[in-house]
Amino acid sequence: TTALVVAVDGPSGSGKSSVSRAAARALGVAFLDTGAMYRALTWAALRAGVDLADADAVARHARTVALVMGTDPAAPTVAAVVDGVETDLTEAVRSPEVTANVSALAAVPAVRSDLVLRQRALIESACLAPAPGREPGVVAEGRDITTVVAPRADVRILLTADESVRLARRAHQDLGAADAAALEATRRGIVERDRVDSRTTSFTAAADGVVTVDSTHLDFDGTVAAVLEVVAQAT
Ligand code: C5P
Repeated sequence: TTALVVAVDGPSGSGKSSVSRAAARALGVAFLDTGAMYRALTWAALRAGVDLADADAVARHARTVALVMGTDPAAPTVAAVVDGVETDLTEAVRSPEVTANVSALAAVPAVRSDLVLRQRALIESACLAPAPGREPGVVAEGRDITTVVAPRADVRILLTADESVRLARRAHQDLGAADAAALEATRRGIVERDRVDSRTTSFTAAADGVVTVDSTHLDFDGTVAAVLEVVAQAT
């Protein structure tokens, strides 16, 4: 069999992470959360006291941090090796402090080109040397996978949903409620972050050849099924 590369981009709260994970599981391939890589470098920069407004310092520091990505879709992990010590960051990269600072790091071009190379290497290794029991291939998700990291992927999907739906989903996920206060608290992490991110990456309109899956009116299982349908059509 040949390897299958599925690229998924989308805004915050589109469900791209959980949906991509489930799709990877169903396909038996690896899962790569590229956002976790930007987050892990942000965690390390914050811990090292790097000024995130200083692009040169951020890029210089990022190059010193090795990332260890666990690409099992059943239990994806991210770890960083700092000063020779590997630290699991799977939980830590979700912290509000990392979320509030990641866009600044992701805006540094030298950091992006560095991570794009690492992401391509991870995709290649999932294709050429899949983990035992896994099929060759990967579902990779982020903001620039369909356009920059893997523009020649077998399947390229933009996962979208109306902003109000994305807000409500994230509020439920993070705060267990979607009342006015929860929506307002969530707005910053979604709308504001996407606004800043959209200066760096283009993830709101489908590039040429990219299939849009709109999950506004779909539940989780329906969205996974729609993604798998696009994969089936394309392969
Ligand atoms: O997807 P997630 O919310 O974990 O991504 C965290 C941040 O990483 C995004 O807000 C964005 O700044 C950055 N990112 C990126 N390019 C990607 C994936 C994530 O710039 N491919």
